[in-house]
Amino acid sequence: MIPMTLDEIARACGASPHDVPDPGALVTAPAAVDSREVTPGGLFAATAGARTDGHDHAAAAVAAGAVAVLAARPVGVPALVVADVRLALGLLARELLRRISPTVIGLTGSVGKTTTKDLLAQVLERHAATVATDRSYNNELGLPLTVLRADAATRHLVLEMGASRKGDLTYLTGIAPPQVGLVLNVGTAHLERMGTGRADVAEAKGELVEALPADGYALLNADDPYVLGMAARTEAQILLYGRSPRARVRAERVRMDERARTAFELVTPSGHAPVALDLIGEHQVSNALAAAAVATALGLDAAEIADGLTAARRRSAGRLQITERPDGVTVVDDAYNANPESMRAGLRAAKALAGVRRTVAVLGGMGQQADASRARHAEVGRLVAGLRFDVLITVGTGDPLATAEAARSSGVAVHAVEDVTEAIELATALLEPGDVVFVKASSEYGLGACARALATANQ
Ligand SMILES: Nc1ncnc2c1ncn2[C@@H]1O[C@H](COP(=O)(O)OP(=O)(O)OP(=O)(O)O)[C@@H](O)[C@H]1O
Ligand SMILES: [Mg+2]
Repeated sequence: MIPMTLDEIARACGASPHDVPDPGALVTAPAAVDSREVTPGGLFAATAGARTDGHDHAAAAVAAGAVAVLAARPVGVPALVVADVRLALGLLARELLRRISPTVIGLTGSVGKTTTKDLLAQVLERHAATVATDRSYNNELGLPLTVLRADAATRHLVLEMGASRKGDLTYLTGIAPPQVGLVLNVGTAHLERMGTGRADVAEAKGELVEALPADGYALLNADDPYVLGMAARTEAQILLYGRSPRARVRAERVRMDERARTAFELVTPSGHAPVALDLIGEHQVSNALAAAAVATALGLDAAEIADGLTAARRRSAGRLQITERPDGVTVVDDAYNANPESMRAGLRAAKALAGVRRTVAVLGGMGQQADASRARHAEVGRLVAGLRFDVLITVGTGDPLATAEAARSSGVAVHAVEDVTEAIELATALLEPGDVVFVKASSEYGLGACARALATANQ
């Protein structure tokens, strides 16, 4: 955050000060929406969450060092009162970006945003001061919070942008107009809310490239026809990446080591250089190429990019996070979230990692699959069988039972349990030294707790 007075902040977001003794007081630290994350000199934004209303924590935030609270009503401590706190945060972020001018890089897609954002940040931060989205803070609240972490020294601002519905990306790019836009893929995530097909998802995600200026760059995945189709929707220069030979940033001689990590020769317009990723699964090649395409547009050469990708490590939890237990069990925690694409990628990666070892899958359901939900869950069951998993534990009633049925009728040993506690008990009892266990479901299934329990058992 660059220092701004309360008065300047109030003007940037149309707020009226209440209980503010000194309008000249300086905010010097970033904004937070969780009073426990307030740092001295920061701003606390009071928002109503699912469980708690930030306004109830206003006094605690000021006690923790917040200079003031951005709030929807007076709260008895210094406050800047606005009609809509989320909109106000966006306006403030927009103002900050008028004062400093980092290169804004927006990235979106159905799967792999956080993974790719983490890779890209690790490539860029070796060269210049980089601020990137924390965790998966990719919506109308998280994006301004990320922008507000930037300061005058920031050269690259990497912003994960989520799109649940049409208009989301137009809103986010209005707050942080990108010079560089990356679209990863158009999958079936969020179908329930967005419409019915991939064309609707593409319509929404393409808003990112529509926001790019003529002297900007659109980095498009040449392997995804819906992403490729977005080329017609932007004035910006286009650079294609992918496995396709028409991609100018591509991977050659892709191979996988015994721990399911991929290595390849990175080819960019500046030359080629070897990459060895630390992340598991073949799908990471696409994520790495996406990061490489952005870095290429920003002027890095193939060797610099390859070195950054090779040095990069997994940063965000619950995405193919691996724990080797002392008894020789390997736990693959992919329980952060799930949709059909990531389920497929994760199951394949776990199987590649396992090789000939016994494999157990603990799977809940995938949310937001609309009318196709049961069919997609059955497909997962058939994939579990096709990949020759030895044991499947499904967790939950409803859709996961479609996965169980399909796998059982294809010959897998299946146990269907109702909740996470039962899943932990059963998996703990079943696992034997040398096994690989893969845990995944949509976040609402809460299987992260199962993955963590299995990872810490026997220690
Ligand atoms: N290119 C890819 N193809 C398929 N699955 C992927 C890909 N990249 C990551 N995944 C898997 O998708 C899941 C989500 O990954 P990640 O958090 O990177 O995606 P995201 O797009 O940020 O998700 P969200 O929309 O929840 O923010 C993880 O299980 C991860 O292993
Ligand atoms: Mg994410």
